[in-house]
Amino acid sequence: MSYRSRRSRSRSRSRSRDRDRRRDRDDWGRGGWGSGGGGGGGGGGGRPSLKGRQPGERLRKPRWDLTKLAPFEKNFYQPTPTVLNRPNYEVEKYRTDKEITLRGRNIPNPIQYFSDYNFPDYVMAEIRRQQYEQPTPIQAQGWPISLQGRDFVGIAQTGSGKTLGYILPAIVHINHQPYLERGDGPIALILAPTRELAQQILTVAQDYGSSSKIRSTCVFGGAPKGPQIRDLERGVEIAIATPGRLIDFLEAGKTNLRRTTYLVLDEADRMLDMGFEPQIRKIVDQIRPDRQTLMWSATWPKEVRNLAEDFLKDYIQLNVGSLSLAANHNILQIVDVCQEVEKDTKLRQLLEEIMAEKESKIIVFAETKRKVDDLTRRMRREGCASSPFLVLCRLRQLLNEMSHERANKTIIFIETKRKVEDVTRGLRSSGWPAMCIHGDKSQQERDWVLSEFRSGRAPILVATDVAARGLDVDDVKFVINYDYPSCSEDYVHRIGRTGRSDKTGTAYTFFTADNCKQAKDLIDVLKEANQVVNPRLYEIMDMARGGGGKGRSRWRGRDDDRRGGFGGRDRDRDRGRMGGSSSSGARNGYSNGNGYAY
Ligand SMILES: Nc1ncnc2c1ncn2[C@@H]1O[C@H](COP(=O)(O)OP(=O)(O)OP(=O)(O)O)[C@@H](O)[C@H]1O
Ligand SMILES: [Mg+2]
Repeated sequence: MSYRSRRSRSRSRSRSRDRDRRRDRDDWGRGGWGSGGGGGGGGGGGRPSLKGRQPGERLRKPRWDLTKLAPFEKNFYQPTPTVLNRPNYEVEKYRTDKEITLRGRNIPNPIQYFSDYNFPDYVMAEIRRQQYEQPTPIQAQGWPISLQGRDFVGIAQTGSGKTLGYILPAIVHINHQPYLERGDGPIALILAPTRELAQQILTVAQDYGSSSKIRSTCVFGGAPKGPQIRDLERGVEIAIATPGRLIDFLEAGKTNLRRTTYLVLDEADRMLDMGFEPQIRKIVDQIRPDRQTLMWSATWPKEVRNLAEDFLKDYIQLNVGSLSLAANHNILQIVDVCQEVEKDTKLRQLLEEIMAEKESKIIVFAETKRKVDDLTRRMRREGCASSPFLVLCRLRQLLNEMSHERANKTIIFIETKRKVEDVTRGLRSSGWPAMCIHGDKSQQERDWVLSEFRSGRAPILVATDVAARGLDVDDVKFVINYDYPSCSEDYVHRIGRTGRSDKTGTAYTFFTADNCKQAKDLIDVLKEANQVVNPRLYEIMDMARGGGGKGRSRWRGRDDDRRGGFGGRDRDRDRGRMGGSSSSGARNGYSNGNGYAY
């Protein structure tokens, strides 16, 4: 093969790898576009046919004349005397303690306690049901700003309650608007990058909105269009949408955004990056310009800041925590500098340790001593030989189910769909209860896998970045980055699937020489969160700079040692900090192939 042809072939291979990676970070553009109608299946590579059209090509921007538009109210905030008269030093102390940074004019005081403000009963009832003790800082400072009708950018750690940060003001906003009339589209529109996230936001909207008869629906690709269209036609005050399907419906006249006055971009930096931005413009063009616009994320890279201003007017920016890229501090971050070929073995070792940490202790009561002996004998034997004893089988099944429920939920992130499939297959054939999710799976399967993971029936989820943002699964204890992500923001979002709300979690990351360009960002994130930095990361960072005379081979040579690679960090000590047991390497039955009928 000539040099040229080899190069071009490898270039096209890497281009298709990129496409594979890009397409799977979310349901942008064509993934959602048209895929409800049999997309994904047809033709090579499953690309839905657009016949050369761009999404939203047929949508025309209305000529907005503000003098002719029906006026609407967007400032509902009446601070209580408690909030209004709180001494300045107390307000400032709160902001300093919570690391709140603000930019903008006329910023109201935070609502530090639920009792500070007359939240509507229909909201407070749900907050009590959820047993929230006080607003999180992004809520405390974000709510009064949003309730004032101001445009807003809210950046706060993963798992810090941003969803309720925008849902609560949305509900108040809606309850102050005239009722929907026949043919009206939604009043609040929430855009999100993935279908699973959109569905999750819907559950929060329903939890808080249903008692005041607010109707909401989710508009996303991969699911049948009929029910979504029916919801829209019946009228919904809140629509949560991934952009592709929404544009589809707008073009087909199935809904409109003439009544929309409250617009949210969740995961706003993702929504404004190259994949989505043209579609976001198409959608926003359909919304009156005097709307209220709110953007939320845990990361706010420089690249999107200017772009965001195209959609915002006289806005307030609120940051909780560091102004630079930062991870949630409740997450213990451990980086293993290793080689690609070591990853599989390391993954299995890790899973054994993780799952052993929470081995269930179970007492089985039997009526007589003899039965106890008999049961014990049979249970032991069951491990290697099958027993015809039906009751015993049921008991075993029960024990297995119980240990499922108590297993440590773990997400393993891998860069490409194909590798996700390979690794999952490998794990399952060794008896690990793993399931996977990625963009080439049908939406039905994606939903099912996620629900199995949420319930704990499948405690190991192997995923591409389609699961990196926003997903709030109860009790995810570990995140493993099998592959390091292609951008540093994604690292922060991925590991943020653990350590939600006030919980703690652990993130393990395999880092190879190929990731050297990301080393600096990662070191910065680790330092900001007061984590121990694996010294080998510095060497890799130097490699990226091509300085220091530290070559690849030297580093590779050192990596052959058998210390396990987690930077000399004492993992037992780390676990101690996480409140786990310090047993290491104990087998727990997950890997023996028994008990998991997946
Ligand atoms: N005031 C509160 N007190 C305690 N828990 C809360 C409060 N508000 C929300 N939560 C809980 O915190 C968890 C995380 O919330 P949410 O998913 O909104 O986080 P997020 O900031 O959007 O995270 P991400 O950046 O990953 O999207 C949820 O389980 C939610 O129920
Ligand atoms: Mg979120």
